[in-house]
Amino acid sequence: MRRKISLVGTLAAVVAVVVAVQVWAYPESARQTKTGCATCHANPAGGEKLTVAGTEYKADHAKVLAAAAAAAEYVGGNKCKMCHIKEYKSWQESAHANAFGNLAKADAKAIAAVATALKVELKGAASKSDACVVCHVTGFHLPGGYPQADSAKTAAVASVSCEACHGPGSLHVKAAKEDKKKMIARAVSSSMCIQCHTTATSPKFESVDYMKRGVHAVPAAE
Ligand code: HEC
Ligand code: HEC
Ligand code: HEC
Ligand code: HEC
Ligand code: HEC
Repeated sequence: MRRKISLVGTLAAVVAVVVAVQVWAYPESARQTKTGCATCHANPAGGEKLTVAGTEYKADHAKVLAAAAAAAEYVGGNKCKMCHIKEYKSWQESAHANAFGNLAKADAKAIAAVATALKVELKGAASKSDACVVCHVTGFHLPGGYPQADSAKTAAVASVSCEACHGPGSLHVKAAKEDKKKMIARAVSSSMCIQCHTTATSPKFESVDYMKRGVHAVPAAE
């Protein structure tokens, strides 16, 4: 009898941990801890390899962390255009490039349907409601991300731009050519996509098909 109860307890704990990692991983961890990605990630734009602090945080989300000195900020997709024109043009043709515009012009019925699926009650325009805006922009409430005081800067981080997938790019933009790779996250896995493509917002999400349609063309490795 006792054994059974403790097994149930263990299972519940395992489930809680799995859920916590999903919720805390990206980029909610940065919003909640109010520290740059570089505190927990070896690459200041995020990515697989964690720092010592990141590993400690993974084991214990209540851990108080000392912020890393070199933190990258979101700069907006315009800043990527001059060096990555092919990816930029291809991205412009994807649904992500219009994610904010489509939210702003969505009809009342479509808005109500998503609000119901998300179990939220909107008090004003969807494009002004944090509950909606969070996934239709880049770097929501993170340094350099959406929104900004300056309207041109805000426009550059509206919609799902480059840095929504590759992480904040200020250090990558500034870095010398030989250091650029260390300052941006190249690998974008489907576990990144499902931070926004949840079962409520994107019930048809299927990794292979969505990767094919949702990611800009990637030229064959030179
Ligand atoms: C307080 C620590 C912390 C901060 C700050 C943080 N992360 Fe993370 N991040 C983690 C942990 C822990 C994981 C989970 C790693 C694992 O499961 O091995 C993770 C996972 C990720 C992943 C992998 C997601 C996936 O499943 O593919 C990405 C990408 C990522 N973070 C990006 C970022 C970016 C970008 C920022 C800054 C905006 C950031 N993180 C800030 C701790 C943090
Ligand atoms: C001044 C030119 C320049 C700007 C601006 C620039 N990049 Fe890059 N980027 C590069 C170069 C050069 C490389 C290749 C570095 C190498 O091969 O070592 C690169 C590589 C990358 C990679 C692949 C990294 C890898 O590990 O292979 C990604 C992803 C990337 N950039 C995203 C961005 C994003 C997002 C922005 C805007 C925030 C941006 N870049 C702005 C020059 C630039
Ligand atoms: C958790 C992230 C997330 C939140 C929060 C969110 N959305 Fe979205 N939204 C998405 C994703 C992802 C898609 C694309 C789904 C697909 O096509 O598979 C989408 C698509 C949409 C579309 C269809 C776009 C089109 O092509 O016309 C509308 C309309 C929309 N969302 C409105 C809203 C409204 C209104 C809210 C707030 C009540 C909201 N969203 C909150 C992630 C989100
Ligand atoms: C929806 C997520 C997403 C968005 C948005 C996005 N990318 Fe990517 N990007 C990817 C994926 C996935 C890859 C392929 C990574 C891999 O498998 O190596 C990639 C690869 C790249 C590479 C490496 C290409 C090469 O030839 O090696 C560059 C550079 C890049 N992206 C730049 C950009 C720029 C610039 C933007 C904005 C105009 C952007 N990305 C927007 C997901 C995204
Ligand atoms: C920051 C949130 C966010 C992230 C991260 C994200 N998406 Fe999206 N995605 C959206 C939103 C919002 C839309 C709806 C855009 C619209 O139509 O207005 C969308 C639309 C799409 C669509 C078009 C769906 C349709 O049927 O029209 C595809 C495909 C897609 N995303 C694939 C991906 C993939 C693959 C990734 C990961 C590599 C990814 N997305 C990462 C928010 C996100």
